[in-house]
Amino acid sequence: MSKLHISGPPGMTEIDPSTLTRDQRYKLLTGLVVPRPIAWVSTLSLGGKVNLAPFSAFTFVSQEPPMVLVSFGRTAGVLRQTGENILRSGEFVVNIADQSLLGSLHDSSANYPPEESEADALELATAQSSVVAPPRVASAPAALECRLHLAIPFGREQNYSMIGEVLRYHVRPDLLVNDKISTRKLDPVGRIAGPTYAQLGEMMTLPPAMVRQVD
Ligand SMILES: Cc1cc2nc3c(=O)[nH]c(=O)nc-3n(C[C@H](O)[C@H](O)[C@H](O)COP(=O)(O)O)c2cc1C
Repeated sequence: MSKLHISGPPGMTEIDPSTLTRDQRYKLLTGLVVPRPIAWVSTLSLGGKVNLAPFSAFTFVSQEPPMVLVSFGRTAGVLRQTGENILRSGEFVVNIADQSLLGSLHDSSANYPPEESEADALELATAQSSVVAPPRVASAPAALECRLHLAIPFGREQNYSMIGEVLRYHVRPDLLVNDKISTRKLDPVGRIAGPTYAQLGEMMTLPPAMVRQVD
């Protein structure tokens, strides 16, 4: 039996978000925006420790120049350390994990104190970035060095969306085929909900879409 306050004609359930609890709103939204890519973000804490955490509110927003967006929530009013580090330093690295790194990516979401480095705790080697201070995860198949372009607070809880300009791409050489990324070789992971993830399934390539004449 649904606990949601539902209305509308049979055949489609209509839900007014204002009738939902915060948790219900979150679960409906994240259950429909699926599967989500995951930004595995490295930043530096005030004390210079490497902070590493996954964020699935992640997409790209511009190609000229290249820019990506990551959104940070709060727990009991406190913004994610990653978000605080980016607001303070203006720099971050988005690492892209493959299947082999999923366990470490997931474990890095635990609530470590700011003075402890997730990279150290999980024994993940890092590699120096070229133009930003936070390092990248050495074993990640790809990484984007980013400089903060814009930080926008949203909603009653002041979730922060942060847009970074990509200053460097790092790509494992075998992933590049005719200057494009081989998705199969990248072997990416996506987030479904909570601790549930998805891997790349069957892929379909359709012919170019054509405008159809209406009689
Ligand atoms: C796969 C995955 C995706 C996540 N995506 C987000 C997200 O998009 N935004 C967010 O605020 N927290 C997200 N989280 C939770 C953070 O990773 C978690 O709160 C982490 O401890 C934050 O670390 P930090 O405080 O060091 O930044 C996600 C967790 C997992 C496991």
